[in-house]
Formats: sequence, structure tokens, C-alpha cells
Amino acid sequence: MAIRNDDLINAAREARKNAYSRYSNYNVGAAIVDDQGRLHVGCNVENAAYNLGNCAEAAAIAAMVQEGGKRIVRIAVAGGYSEIGPCTPCGGCRQRINEFADKNTVIIVIDDSKEWREYSVAELLPESFHLD
Ligand code: THU
Repeated sequence: MAIRNDDLINAAREARKNAYSRYSNYNVGAAIVDDQGRLHVGCNVENAAYNLGNCAEAAAIAAMVQEGGKRIVRIAVAGGYSEIGPCTPCGGCRQRINEFADKNTVIIVIDDSKEWREYSVAELLPESFHLD
């Protein structure tokens, strides 16, 4: 059965609970529906050497790739708080998403409230870098 947005958001929120964010205390979870309709999740993983930390989107994309997923159909990112707003993907993660996206890919961002926003990759990363 197709994964609904509610299920995708819940999966991102569940992944967020496992975030290892002891330095920033900023928890992020991400969940992807791939081209085969499968779900992949990831969370941010920080490190005492701060620059070695990984974003949630990068972890979810790595999970998708190693399971054989080729394209991101939808990705939900759960992070941030209603006071400061949802976690929109950082610049690097916009490029990471772009690698596996197409014009129909939907990026959903949600914080701890009920409201979510949807973007296309072109909205988040206009004039993006491609090799082909
Ligand atoms: N973070 C993500 O996981 N995804 C983003 O798109 C933005 C930032 C993480 C990295 C770091 O662990 C924490 O949020 C604070 O920057």
C-alpha cells in the first residue's frame, strides 16, 4: 500500500527520536519514499569533532542507496520547533537531495506542530549544479 504523507511524517518523527545530537541538542529525522515505494529513514549523528557530524537527510539517502533505491519521490524532514520554525534542509543536503530528485520530488518539512510545508527541489535549490 502506498505510503501516505502522514505515515512519512510519522516515520521522520520516529527517526528524530533517535537523533544523536548531544552537542547542538537539535534533533532531526528524515524519511524517504523511493521509486519503488519503499521507506528509508535517518537521523542526525553528531561527533565530538564537530565537523564530522552527519545530517538526517544524508543518513536517509545513504540508507536508500544501499537498499537499491534510485530516486527520491518524497522526503520528509522533521526538525525544529514551532517557535523557530521547521528544519529546512541545509545547503549541502539540498544538493544531496538534488542528486536523487526530479521535478516531481516533494520535500516536506515539519517541526513539532501540525503544520507542514512542501517544496520542490527547484524552490529550495534554484539553478542547481548538475554534471549532465
Ligand atoms: N541538521 C540536519 O540533520 N539536517 C539539516 O538539514 C540541517 C541540520 C543537523 C546537523 C546538526 O546535527 C544539527 O542539525 C544542528 O545543526
